[in-house]
Amino acid sequence: MKKTLADIDVKKKKVLVRVDYNVPLDANLKITDDKRITATLPTIKYLLEKNAAIVLMSHLGKPRGKVVPEMSLKPIAIRLGEILGKSIKFIGGDCISIESKKAAKDLKLGQILLLENLRFRSEEEGKNAVSEKDKSLMDVFAKNLASMGEVFIQDAFGTVHRSHASTVNIVKYIKEAVAGFLVEKELKFLREALDNPIRPFLAILGGVKVSDKINVIENLLDKVDSIIIGGAMAYTFLKAQGVSIGMSLVENDKLDLALDLLKKAKERKVNFLLIVDHVIANKVDLVGKSVLLDTSVETTIDEAIRDGFMGVDIGIKSIKKFAEVIKSAKTIVWNGPLGIFEIDEFSKGTVEIAKMIADATDEGAISVVGGGDSISAVKKAGIDKRISHISTGGGASLEFLEGKDLPGIAVLIDKK
Ligand code: 3PG
Repeated sequence: MKKTLADIDVKKKKVLVRVDYNVPLDANLKITDDKRITATLPTIKYLLEKNAAIVLMSHLGKPRGKVVPEMSLKPIAIRLGEILGKSIKFIGGDCISIESKKAAKDLKLGQILLLENLRFRSEEEGKNAVSEKDKSLMDVFAKNLASMGEVFIQDAFGTVHRSHASTVNIVKYIKEAVAGFLVEKELKFLREALDNPIRPFLAILGGVKVSDKINVIENLLDKVDSIIIGGAMAYTFLKAQGVSIGMSLVENDKLDLALDLLKKAKERKVNFLLIVDHVIANKVDLVGKSVLLDTSVETTIDEAIRDGFMGVDIGIKSIKKFAEVIKSAKTIVWNGPLGIFEIDEFSKGTVEIAKMIADATDEGAISVVGGGDSISAVKKAGIDKRISHISTGGGASLEFLEGKDLPGIAVLIDKK
C-alpha cells in the first residue's frame, strides 16, 4: 500500500501534481472528452480546501521533444478554469523556463498553475537515454521540476506505466511523493478485482491482436473463473482449433500460442468462452467507418466463416451464450471491444455486452472497464454511469492486468 494525499500535510504548501491531461482534441483544438480532467477534481479540490498552491504538470500527445503548438496544454488550462470557476495560470513555451519557474515561485496559496507540455522537452521521456550522460539529463530535468514544489502528488494514473522524468526520476529530488485520490481509486478497484474478487470472476477481452493481450490472458487465467474472448483476437483462437475463418483478421504466427493458452485454461479449469456465431461482411470500410452499398452482411449459423467474408461482430447465439455468464458474474473486468463497434452496423454485439455488464452491476456485481475503445463502447451504449469503475488509463490498466509493477507507483512512499 502506498501513502496518499490524505496521509501527508499539504496545508499551505506548494504542491506539485503530476496529472494525465492527455485528452483528445479535435482539429480546432477543442477538447472532445474531458474525463481525464474531471477525474483529477477530487485531488485538486482537496488541495484547494487545504489552501495549498497547486502546480500541475502533464504531457499531451507525442511531440517527441519538440515544441508543437497544437499540443500545447493551453486549451486544457482554459477548460480546467471553466470547470473550477477559477482562472488557471498558464505559461507557454518551456515548462522549466525562467518564466515558468518564476510563475511557480510567485504562486499564491489557493492559486493553480499548469505547466506547458512536459514532452516538449526530450528529457521527459528520455527515449534515447542509453548513456549515463543522457540518463543524468533526465535527472537534471526532474530536479528542475521538483524545485517548483515542496511535495509531489502522483495523480496521472494513465502514465504510471511510463518510467519518465516526471513519474520516476522526480521523487529523488522531493521530500515526499505520494498518490493522489485518482490513483488511489484506480488501484483500489483494479487490485480488489484481481487480488480479492467476489466470485464468480469474469474477464471479457476483445480487440484486434492476441499478441497485445497474451500477458493479460496468462495472468488472468490464474485468477478468473470465466474468460470471454471476442473481437478479431477470437479468430486466431478459432483458426488454431481448425475452424474456417474466411478472410477475418488473424495472427498466423500466434496459432500455437493460442492453443497453449486454451490448454492452460483447461488445466486451470477456467471456462474459456469463444464466439459461436458471427456477423460477417465481404468488405469493410475502416477509413470511412461505414458499410458501403455493395457490401453483403450476413450472420453465420455457427462458428465457421465462409471464404470471401470476414467476422465483424459477434452473433445473436454468442450474445445469448455470453449473457448467462455475465448475469451470474460478481466481478467483471472488461478490456477491448467485441467487434468493429466504430461502425454502427457492427456495434450491436459490443453494445449488448456493455448493457449486460451494466445490468449485472445494477444487481450488485463490481465492474471495471479499461482501454480507450471499451470506454468509447460503454459511452456508445449509454451505460457509462452504471459501471462501477471506468479506468482513465489504457496502457496502464492493461499493464496492471498483466501483473506488472507500475514504475510510477513503485517509487511512491509505502504506508507503514
Ligand atoms: C495514455 O493516453 O495512455 C497516457 O496518457 C500515456 O500516453 P503515452 O502512451 O503517449 O505514453
